[in-house]
Amino acid sequence: MKKPVRIVITGGAGQIAYALAFRIAAGEMLGTDQPVILHLLEIPNALDALKGIVMELEDCAYPLLQDIVMTEEVKVAFTDVDYALLVGARPRGPGMERNDLLRVNGDIFTVQGKALNEYANPRVKVLVVGNPANTNAYIAMQSAPNLSPQQFSAMTRLDHNRAVSQLAIKLGVPVTAINQVIIWGNHSATQYPDINHALVHNQSALALVDQNWINHDFIPSVQQRGAAIINIRGKSSAASAAFAAMAHLRDWVSGTDAWVSMAVPSDGSYGIAEKLIYSFPVTIKDGEYHIVPALEINELSHARMQASQQELEQERAAITDLLC
Ligand code: NAD
Ligand code: LMR
Repeated sequence: MKKPVRIVITGGAGQIAYALAFRIAAGEMLGTDQPVILHLLEIPNALDALKGIVMELEDCAYPLLQDIVMTEEVKVAFTDVDYALLVGARPRGPGMERNDLLRVNGDIFTVQGKALNEYANPRVKVLVVGNPANTNAYIAMQSAPNLSPQQFSAMTRLDHNRAVSQLAIKLGVPVTAINQVIIWGNHSATQYPDINHALVHNQSALALVDQNWINHDFIPSVQQRGAAIINIRGKSSAASAAFAAMAHLRDWVSGTDAWVSMAVPSDGSYGIAEKLIYSFPVTIKDGEYHIVPALEINELSHARMQASQQELEQERAAITDLLC
């Protein structure tokens, strides 16, 4: 039997956490041979709701779930954790821009970055889901000087899955036929879903769809999918976000030769400013991701990639004072 790993989910009583905790406890993220201890962090107002979730988790009698730590204290939540899923944040409501959330959420991620730095397993892997996810991850990373920047990431896997799905629906093929889709940039409307390198049954996707569809249908619909779900459902996506978060962490731990999109600190690849948390195509081996190198980038792609970089630079400028 493997040694249990500790996984913190912040925003434990929220809707994404509700879709995550039960599946992680069932072994869907790290495997059915990996015991887990769940740490669930909430704000005081949500502790009753969290208690109810803990009761439900107990009622599942999951063989892999060795313990549950339920807390409002950051120190308790982050002590010795091996994996951190930073989900808790104020979600965007109808008509609200993501940038409005920057400062509200910035404080949360400063505190949590410091706590990761001080109390977590020094090899902790961190995934930020709470929006604005890239900049929140940047804040947490900068607040944790003893950890490597490579331990921090933000989620663009949901955007990646959305792009794969939209292309599969358009072409009437299974999603498994599609490879090498990329999300570049920010998890926001400036993200660039790129199918210039995508393969469908090992054939170039560009030979199968026209540019008009790519520019006026595919790209905007992936960019706006989160907002479209909020508008129609009244709440932001939850089950699909949880599924993407599990896939992100699972691949990061277990590895993948397939290209997946992860927002990670830029190493300067593709001219993106170093340390910005920017979504790149990556492959993963032995727990380390590697940005897919030397892709040919055409002028249109370059402009879109730059636009998302600029937005991230503006977000970074807006929160710099929080990092003192
Ligand atoms: P939710 O409102 O249902 O849950 C958020 C929870 O976080 C709440 O229970 C709240 O009490 C808690 N919380 C707030 N501040 C906290 C703090 N300081 N510490 C601990 N917990 C705290 O929201 P949700 O639908 O679960 O979404 C969570 C976040 O994920 C939002 O920011 C949303 O925009 C984001 N999101 C990101 C993606 C992505 O692809 N990156 C996709 C969907 C949603
Ligand atoms: C999503 O992509 O579904 C969410 O990030 C949308 C949001 O702003 O919560």
